[in-house]
Amino acid sequence: MAMGSHAQTVTIPVETQNNALVLQTDGDKTLKMVYFGSKLGNAKEYEQIGKMYRQADDSGVLTEAYMASGSQSLAEPAITVTHTDGNKSLNLIYVSHTVTKVDEDVSLLAVNLKDPVYPFEVTLYYKTYFKEDVTEQWSVIKHNEKGEVTLNKYASANLNLKGNGFWLKQYHGNWALEMQPEEAKLTHGIKTIDSKLGTRANLYEPSMFMVSMDKPATEDEGKVVLGALEWSGNFKIDLELDVSNNLRVIAGINNAAAEYHLKPAQEFTTPAFVYTYSDHGKGDASRKLQRWARKYKIVDGQGDRLTLLNNWESTYFDFNESKLFGLLKDTKKLGVDLFLLDDGWFGNKFPRNGDHAGLGDWQENKLKLPNGIGSLVKEATADGVKFGIWIEPEMVNPKSELYSKHPDWVIKQPNRPEKYFRNQLVLDLANPKVQDFVFGIVDDLFTKNPTLAYIKWDCNAVIYNAYSAYLKKDQSHLYTDYVFGLYKVLERVRAKYPKVPLMLCSGGGGRVDYGALKYFTEFWPSDNTEPLERVFIQWEYSYFYPAMTSSNHVTDWGKQPIKFRTDVAMMGKLGFDIVVSKLSEQDLDYVHDALKNYEYLKDAIWHGDQYRLQSPWDNDAASIMYVNDSKSKAVVFNYLVNNRYGAGTKVPIRLKGLDPQKKYLVKEINLYPGSNSSIENNLVLTGDFLMTVGINPDVNSGRTSVVLQLEESR
Ligand code: GLA
Repeated sequence: MAMGSHAQTVTIPVETQNNALVLQTDGDKTLKMVYFGSKLGNAKEYEQIGKMYRQADDSGVLTEAYMASGSQSLAEPAITVTHTDGNKSLNLIYVSHTVTKVDEDVSLLAVNLKDPVYPFEVTLYYKTYFKEDVTEQWSVIKHNEKGEVTLNKYASANLNLKGNGFWLKQYHGNWALEMQPEEAKLTHGIKTIDSKLGTRANLYEPSMFMVSMDKPATEDEGKVVLGALEWSGNFKIDLELDVSNNLRVIAGINNAAAEYHLKPAQEFTTPAFVYTYSDHGKGDASRKLQRWARKYKIVDGQGDRLTLLNNWESTYFDFNESKLFGLLKDTKKLGVDLFLLDDGWFGNKFPRNGDHAGLGDWQENKLKLPNGIGSLVKEATADGVKFGIWIEPEMVNPKSELYSKHPDWVIKQPNRPEKYFRNQLVLDLANPKVQDFVFGIVDDLFTKNPTLAYIKWDCNAVIYNAYSAYLKKDQSHLYTDYVFGLYKVLERVRAKYPKVPLMLCSGGGGRVDYGALKYFTEFWPSDNTEPLERVFIQWEYSYFYPAMTSSNHVTDWGKQPIKFRTDVAMMGKLGFDIVVSKLSEQDLDYVHDALKNYEYLKDAIWHGDQYRLQSPWDNDAASIMYVNDSKSKAVVFNYLVNNRYGAGTKVPIRLKGLDPQKKYLVKEINLYPGSNSSIENNLVLTGDFLMTVGINPDVNSGRTSVVLQLEESR
């Protein structure tokens, strides 16, 4: 096709219930993304969109659907390659596309693009979830050249957004400081959010972000895209505001020190980039993502979860069988489903009595547990509770038998001093033998203890000195193959143990993404369980992850009373990590009552819609509510987050998501024994009133945490 000739254009609208993403070829058969936003009433008109923009200039094609480098586009590419002959140019031309209807809700669009000069092709995949307004986008790259092609950059996707200005909300953090938000207007050039940590890649920056268009979106107003990469390793999100004032978002595996060699006919499938769009603000967008996650991504997203008692903060490494038997009884006394035995149960030559030794040696420590895990599981059953266990299977302490036996299984430079993160090193999951070993840890636990009911899968070190003895000359594959290796292990675990609850943990929220959550039921948002801090941390995570995935444990961090701590932990998957025997009688009574309420409300919290009513960032009180599907039950959590004189709720808080026609019985629950509610007894109000006028939970320095239950009253 000669440049500039007027071949027929192909327009491909990718529609969901409310949105459309429109792809269109130009006269040169270059595939462009010409639109992403609200769906048009008349689908024929999508063809016209491209013509309305007169932004062309000498900088080349700026709206390519998957930007290739070294030929006609000069902006930040999605893909850069080095062909077998050393040539670095790539031009991707539209060939064909197919749409497969997976079911009522899900469709898969595949668009095949080829280089007219080199036998090199990319297929772009758009998996759409119609009702949820969510798209997962990824690419499959392959070639038929005479030898290996190097992929210098291989992003999952790039989006082209149009708007009168763009505002990025991003996150940064560190241990115990997860999900610190920042929002700013994007200026010209490239803003990058990335990780080069290898494992627990989110420690400093997660890949989740939001972009508002035209003006910063609020909770209920404005145009906003929410996105995240489904990948548990190094990622890179580039946001480039170009010379024509369009924003390009390029999301994928981080190509830093990670070029990938691709053999002829071998396929490289990138991880998916998941995104949603709403023109009704961040709240609506987040509910779409949450619904999608529950229905399609996380393990057992429509199912149940277990409440638990964890022993990490009550014993640390200092326990033995009889102490644990006591804790099993405490689990029952507390009234939760499961006891979770944390770190410290393994290692004999190098006992795990602290974090400096034993990781890698997954045999029960004979001094602490002479009768093994089996005896604990048996005792748990006798006590009427379930049993779960902590592992950190991807890691090794140099002081371990594993390290002495298999030094070549460890990621470290052969000729440089070792550098440790929490006294440990990372195992080389690119190596299939290491994959077998890691799978074996889990498999062995379940085989020996078939009633084992839960695993907390921890991951506490980053990758320093990235070098794999296994990968030999392909060292630049390590960061990528590590994650593929991890997913292979998790695939095997899930093939054999499809539903058992697994918690994705990292000492702090260093590890949560939809690449991993596909295999897990929940994650650990932060080691920081101080409840005031958690109000903020959980608030921000909730834009991207449903409440049921958020493991919230009541611990002894901070000075808040048991009520405040438990109320905050109830906004998700409730657990405890406290010394039960130290609870006063009243505290224990309070917890029992709260657990009863949780049982009654958990369906709304876990499977319902979440509404962020009042932000902790700019109010005296934070307010968050959950409504069940039939809008017959709801719960509103309110917390004082400002200690200044007179701080509290002076005006009513408007509720959301209720049925205006329904009448609701409002009742304050989770009252500490002996305290009275200041909310009127038997108060019945319509959804209309509650959403138009609102309700005042009467949060003040004497009532720092107030939980209101709403029940349809007939
Ligand atoms: C990490 C986890 C904690 C605990 C310890 C055990 O820090 O986040 O919850 O499991 O490891 O060493």
